[in-house]
Amino acid sequence: MIVMSFVKVDSGSIFGLISGQKIGFLLRNPGVKMRAFLALGIGFLKAGEWGGKKAGLIGFLLLVSQGFLLGCGGGSGEEVEVPDLALSHGKKLYKRLCVSCHGVNGRGDGKAAAFLSIPPRDFTQGIFKFKSNLEGLPTDADLMRTLEVGIAGTEMSAYARVPEKDRRSLVDYLKTLVVKDMEIQSEAELEDLDGVQEVVEKDGQKLARVNLFEMWGVGDSVSVPDPPKMTKELIARGAELYKSKTIDCARCHGPGGKGDGPSVDENMKDDWGFLIRPRDLTSEAFKGGKAPRDIYLRIVVGIPGTPMPSFLNNLPEEEDRWALVYYTMKIAGLIPRWIQ
Ligand code: HEC
Ligand code: HEC
Repeated sequence: MIVMSFVKVDSGSIFGLISGQKIGFLLRNPGVKMRAFLALGIGFLKAGEWGGKKAGLIGFLLLVSQGFLLGCGGGSGEEVEVPDLALSHGKKLYKRLCVSCHGVNGRGDGKAAAFLSIPPRDFTQGIFKFKSNLEGLPTDADLMRTLEVGIAGTEMSAYARVPEKDRRSLVDYLKTLVVKDMEIQSEAELEDLDGVQEVVEKDGQKLARVNLFEMWGVGDSVSVPDPPKMTKELIARGAELYKSKTIDCARCHGPGGKGDGPSVDENMKDDWGFLIRPRDLTSEAFKGGKAPRDIYLRIVVGIPGTPMPSFLNNLPEEEDRWALVYYTMKIAGLIPRWIQ
């Protein structure tokens, strides 16, 4: 947790980090010392991203001094070769702000990736967790939101301080990274493919590099109606559904919401192959946001790439969806006691 709070310090606030009181504590405790250096290193690197070349250099040196960079150099070896002047605005910003974690080609293999408790997203899979639609890729608004508020409980910080126009350029550029190489057998097959960027040949096999945003498209957002009044009855209905046979959130999140339901085993993995656990709803951050609308979307759309399913069809009644939203909020301690 401590490391996260340091790593989350981004641009500019680096001075807040230096004067932070936790530093003294960290340095007095040898067990966490290494992690403190690591956090400091990444913190400085992040400050460096915002123009402070010196801070970036210090961060780099801190990491090297701890042997971190030396051990994991391979990650994002392929450097961009396009000369600086030709780089689009979004690409430049991406290089400055995102490459350290997401890697040059968006494969989630940036230099800092190996140090993070939750790995940065590999964009090339075309799977995004926090979206408002069921079909296809996330909307621009979904991606803009991720950039604006960040992902709570992870090292993906909020970039609200980056002007909106620049965030839009970042989103535009990010979408060009969502590409997949597909084997093609014939010219006819190639003609049928949408979003082909280039065709390359590898070991005698023709591969079409396809942009998934163009191939799969972006589905319409689920419309979220205005939340009904929060009542004791609605919360009680939510509690019932949570444990019911048909909905059964408890099988994963556990009867008390601690993420310890009977369906959970130690090998539960996400689509990127990383170990994952259902969220402990009582204590862990909601990555996609804790407003009723956010929780509604997570329940209706699910969290793609993870075992958290979409309950769209199992919960046809709006009222039941909100009942579960409110009950989830109750478990998470997000609603005032007088309503419960
Ligand atoms: C310090 C590391 C770090 C940096 C820098 C960083 N990210 Fe991330 N990012 C992450 C992590 C970690 C995740 C995955 C969180 C998860 O899986 O819950 C993530 C996930 C994402 C996602 C996926 C959201 C989804 O719905 O699945 C997007 C989009 C994203 N980052 C964009 C960016 C952009 C654009 C930048 C630069 C402005 C950036 N990130 C900089 C660590 C970082
Ligand atoms: C098959 C297992 C499974 C079931 C059933 C399930 N979940 Fe989840 N849930 C998960 C996993 C796994 C995550 C964590 C995903 C991640 O870390 O990205 C999660 C995350 C969540 C989150 C956190 C959202 C966020 O923004 O971080 C909420 C809220 C949630 N689930 C609510 C529910 C509710 C309510 C139900 C029942 C309607 C339910 N879940 C059913 C596996 C499940």
